[in-house]
Amino acid sequence: MQNYNPFSLRGKTILVTGASSGIGKATAVECARMGANLIVTARNEERLNATLAALDVESGQKHKAVIADLLVAEQMEKLIVESGKIDGLVLCSGKGLTLPFQFSSRDKFDDIFETNFYAPVELMRVLYKKKQINKEGSVVILASLGGTEVFSGGNCIYGASKAALNSVMKFCAKEFAPRKVRVNGICPGMVDTPLIHRGTVSEEQLQEDMKRYPLKRYGRPEDIAYNAVYLLSDASAWMTGHAMVLDGGMSI
Ligand SMILES: NC(=O)c1ccc[n+]([C@@H]2O[C@H](COP(=O)([O-])OP(=O)(O)OC[C@H]3O[C@@H](n4cnc5c(N)ncnc54)[C@H](OP(=O)(O)O)[C@@H]3O)[C@@H](O)[C@H]2O)c1
Repeated sequence: MQNYNPFSLRGKTILVTGASSGIGKATAVECARMGANLIVTARNEERLNATLAALDVESGQKHKAVIADLLVAEQMEKLIVESGKIDGLVLCSGKGLTLPFQFSSRDKFDDIFETNFYAPVELMRVLYKKKQINKEGSVVILASLGGTEVFSGGNCIYGASKAALNSVMKFCAKEFAPRKVRVNGICPGMVDTPLIHRGTVSEEQLQEDMKRYPLKRYGRPEDIAYNAVYLLSDASAWMTGHAMVLDGGMSI
């Protein structure tokens, strides 16, 4: 029983996007702790290298960093080539926008959908089509509580991009099932990462908002990373096509 751990990721190779910050970084760190080989990717070289340096390396474990802007086709292509065969894919890259709907525009929708929807969806599509996601692999898509509920105002465009991800997640779960590749989503409430400290909402407003959460705090990146570990591990082998809400009780 000494080595018994159904949540282990030992021997699995996992690609994490958005790994230079917040949830992606924490997910990469926790996956390495659970024994996985990591491929971490994002645009910012310095911050991505800091993630690489933070990854545990035990015997036989290998990690690598690939700088790529997922909005640039050649860079996504390079990432796909350098990733090789993988067992897990965590799609964390994304960006936020808080803007009342009446001030939205087609350009603003396009901007958020390019990063939050088209880029991760295309990466998943190509990796699956090229059979780079091994049989019994697992895809984890970072959506949002904003994609399932209206839990805060002014997040229409962002929420719509995440709702679209949740839909693709379900279709892909069905289409990828013959190869036993599972696809699930995580829908977090507010998580304390740079994404929520963009200046559009003041720190006082964030402190006030936090009180609405039954557990009286926002999520920590690790709260989400542990959920990703579960979805990547064989412990969740019978789970596919689900958007897991993780929100400190906010949506009760
Ligand atoms: N924080 C929250 O409250 C919250 C709640 C629900 C869902 N989420 C979702 O969780 C995911 C992670 O968010 P986070 O809070 O960890 O945000 P974050 O700290 O701002 O991290 C976002 C990551 O996305 C990467 N990224 C952005 N645009 C990219 C591009 N064009 N190409 C490649 N990488 C790109 C950034 O890296 P570079 O800048 O280095 O490229 C960064 O690593 C996002 O999808 C977000 O929508 C967050």
